[in-house]
Amino acid sequence: MDGLNFADLDKNYLSQVALIERESIADPWSENLIAGLIDDSRAVARVGVIDGEAVCYYSFYTVLDEADVNNLAVKICFRRRGIGAALMMDMIDQARLRKVLSLTLEVRSGNHAAISLYEKFGFVAEGVRKKFYKDGEDALIMWKRDI
Ligand SMILES: CC(C)(COP(=O)(O)OP(=O)(O)OC[C@H]1O[C@@H](n2cnc3c(N)ncnc32)[C@H](O)[C@@H]1OP(=O)(O)O)[C@@H](O)C(=O)NCCC(=O)NCCS
Repeated sequence: MDGLNFADLDKNYLSQVALIERESIADPWSENLIAGLIDDSRAVARVGVIDGEAVCYYSFYTVLDEADVNNLAVKICFRRRGIGAALMMDMIDQARLRKVLSLTLEVRSGNHAAISLYEKFGFVAEGVRKKFYKDGEDALIMWKRDI
């Protein structure tokens, strides 16, 4: 998407990112929890910006050669314009830079938009965590191996 640039998350974007988190995720991380990613050497947290406005974000933790994705989201009014796909490309590039070999994440079994996005980028569902979420929904465990 024109004008979309990715940068490391910094405190200037925290309140905007926390807002995207709240509008996107049923069990959102607090702004404090998100802030903790900034100084965590195991964490990669990035924000996508258009004209100074945060429109998407993601974060993952690295453990040896694996990356565990925490959350990712695109601001509601910017969805379905290719930003989610651009986010995935940045995330995979950042993982490669850190010599990560595999990416993994959990996703609600009914989150068809996210599952479709992940499958497009080579993630495969390898397991299910029954009733993983507070409301009883299952989680699919997805992996992208040998990135
Ligand atoms: C999932 C999400 C990041 C997609 O972002 P987006 O910017 O709308 O995605 P894009 O426009 O780049 O679409 C890329 C692909 O994602 C999938 N997709 C996105 N929205 C979709 C929808 N509403 N229904 C089905 N597939 C969808 C499609 O495969 C799409 O490819 P296509 O355009 O060729 O059909 C966005 O819907 C979101 O933030 N959801 C809420 C947060 C969330 O669920 N995060 C994941 C937690 S594990």
